[in-house]
Amino acid sequence: MKIFAVNSSARGAAQSKTKLLLDHLAAGMKEAGADVEVVDLKDKKVNTCIGCFTCWTKTPGTCVHKDDMSSELFPKFMGADLVVLATPLFHYTMNAELKKFIERTLPIIQPFFAVSGAETYHPLRHPHPGVVMLSVAGFPEISVFDQLSSWANFIYGRPGGLVAEIYRPFAEALLLPAFRKKAQDVFDAVRQAGKEIVQSWKVSPETMSRITQDLTEDSRAFLLGVGNCMWKTCISEGLTPKEMAEAGKIPRADSVESFMSMMELGFNPDKAGKLRAVMQFTFTGDGGQSCYFEIADGAIKAKKGTAEKPDLTISTPFELWMDIMTGKQDGQQMFMQGKYTFKGEMDLLMRMKDLFTA
Ligand SMILES: Cc1cc2nc3c(=O)[nH]c(=O)nc-3n(C[C@H](O)[C@H](O)[C@H](O)COP(=O)(O)O)c2cc1C
Repeated sequence: MKIFAVNSSARGAAQSKTKLLLDHLAAGMKEAGADVEVVDLKDKKVNTCIGCFTCWTKTPGTCVHKDDMSSELFPKFMGADLVVLATPLFHYTMNAELKKFIERTLPIIQPFFAVSGAETYHPLRHPHPGVVMLSVAGFPEISVFDQLSSWANFIYGRPGGLVAEIYRPFAEALLLPAFRKKAQDVFDAVRQAGKEIVQSWKVSPETMSRITQDLTEDSRAFLLGVGNCMWKTCISEGLTPKEMAEAGKIPRADSVESFMSMMELGFNPDKAGKLRAVMQFTFTGDGGQSCYFEIADGAIKAKKGTAEKPDLTISTPFELWMDIMTGKQDGQQMFMQGKYTFKGEMDLLMRMKDLFTA
């Protein structure tokens, strides 16, 4: 089976979640014996269809443009048994790059009008390859793909046409260390989907539910907390999310709740090993609140309030601790100056930098 996969994300491989999932899908397809080629549209010159209909009249089946679409991509598209159309979800649909690519497949259609049932249509000049639609989105609800799916089913939904739809919401969280285990299962499931498509021309419901599984108990709360702190920090520091990640900066928590989420997110189970400890934070000053973290069996649980027997209690103004966490103040210096205090195991305090990574 010959498979031609088109990635329309403008981001580089290190950042693009479309590319990330497409690479896993392609790997599964290859494992099942298919001949797969992945092309990044950002590296290709694809002109906009100018609607001249030269491909329907003067040179039937051949576009007037002299670019990578005419010379390379369209012939590969026509020669494939299956095409994978991979796009980030932009404004609830495919991005402009993929739409431009699809519009340039016009020469596969003949100009004549025909009618089938309630629809007028143009017949194909050449058999259309089967289609797999793959998309990723920032929002957590699977319903964000409804419009894209509706379009894909309308246009490719004839028998054998739309082979599979692979949609992954909350995709920007896939590379966060805290979600590593579940994200790995998503990647494995996408790979499995690639195999199933080659072997049986469909994806099983079990594989699909692994692909769309929740990474966290409440992804909306996560976005409202950590997500919004991330954007606020980007704005205040004048950095894009990519620049922030490259600089190893973390979002600045703006409430006890977002601090709790951030600590859970930054927890490093490998460094914790067999550690069992309870870490209490008592925030002094205006509206002072308390929270604590239970660390056991390589996991962390954040709770509001006061623990019965904490191993370490840090009493600090909230904003000062956020300054320390985000590298604006030095923790040791602040302690020497008496800006915060601690009770209990000093060892645990010393290990904090290790236990929580950016
Ligand atoms: C212009 C633009 C529009 C977007 N529109 C949506 C949207 O409608 N729904 C959504 O859930 N995410 C939306 N997003 C978020 C992207 O789908 C998300 O960041 C995705 O991971 C990007 O894929 P990539 O990493 O392969 O580029 C949008 C992002 C951009 C830049």
